[in-house]
Amino acid sequence: MRQNEGVYVGIVKNNRPLVAGNWKMNGLKNAVQEIIKLQTSLQDLVSLGCDVLVCPPATLLSHFEAVVSEGQVPLLLGGQDCHMAVSGAHTGDISAQMLKDVGCEYVIVGHSERRSDHNETNEMVQAKAKAAIEAGLIPIICVGESEEERVAGQTLTVVTSQLRGSVPPESKGNEIIIAYEPVWAIGTGKVPEVKDVADVHQMIRKELASILGHGGQELRILYGGSVKADNAGTLMAIDNVDGALVGGASLRADDFTGILKVYSS
Ligand code: PGA
Repeated sequence: MRQNEGVYVGIVKNNRPLVAGNWKMNGLKNAVQEIIKLQTSLQDLVSLGCDVLVCPPATLLSHFEAVVSEGQVPLLLGGQDCHMAVSGAHTGDISAQMLKDVGCEYVIVGHSERRSDHNETNEMVQAKAKAAIEAGLIPIICVGESEEERVAGQTLTVVTSQLRGSVPPESKGNEIIIAYEPVWAIGTGKVPEVKDVADVHQMIRKELASILGHGGQELRILYGGSVKADNAGTLMAIDNVDGALVGGASLRADDFTGILKVYSS
């Protein structure tokens, strides 16, 4: 690993890392300019050692797809949620098959904002993850403890039970991705200590091996929660951290590129 002006560059991992941008409920049609800018910045990065995924609001997917499919850089698209059913009377919802149809390869499921705003349970998250796999998408299954749970020393217990409840036990390691996102770190600028991230990711890896067997080793585990260009090098270098799920800092191409640079040599 080399160090350049305080930023670690060229981190090499066993699993090819993934850096995913979760745009949440942000962006109008003109945001397509940021995707064009992102493509240009990525072209300038030498040997990018990670996959790059953008998960915009559903309204922007086809606009982004039109740009991504014409571009020179492999930029992946994903949804932010999907329904567990293939189709039917579910006003306002979007199925995994619809996301696939519009050009997505991934979908975030069980984000803490979905769990809290929409009362999503582990069972619902598992059903959504299954629906995603059946539609040919890779679900990014989110887990993470609240501030109160962390203070009470319950982090590992909470994350373990979320994993047991949310991961489809019959899935293969390369069919799913886990994102560990401490709820208190999301959008707050607060980031856990390196040791805490290392401990939770190691525990997740062990738990996945017990749920999925050998497949748990090859599965990517992302860290999410206030990832920025200035802390990405440190966070991404931690063992068992195979990339990032980025909210606020994924909205502008310059900020997002700053994070992606840690995987560029
Ligand atoms: P943040 O969001 O990077 O703005 O903290 C992360 C997320 O919610 O996925």
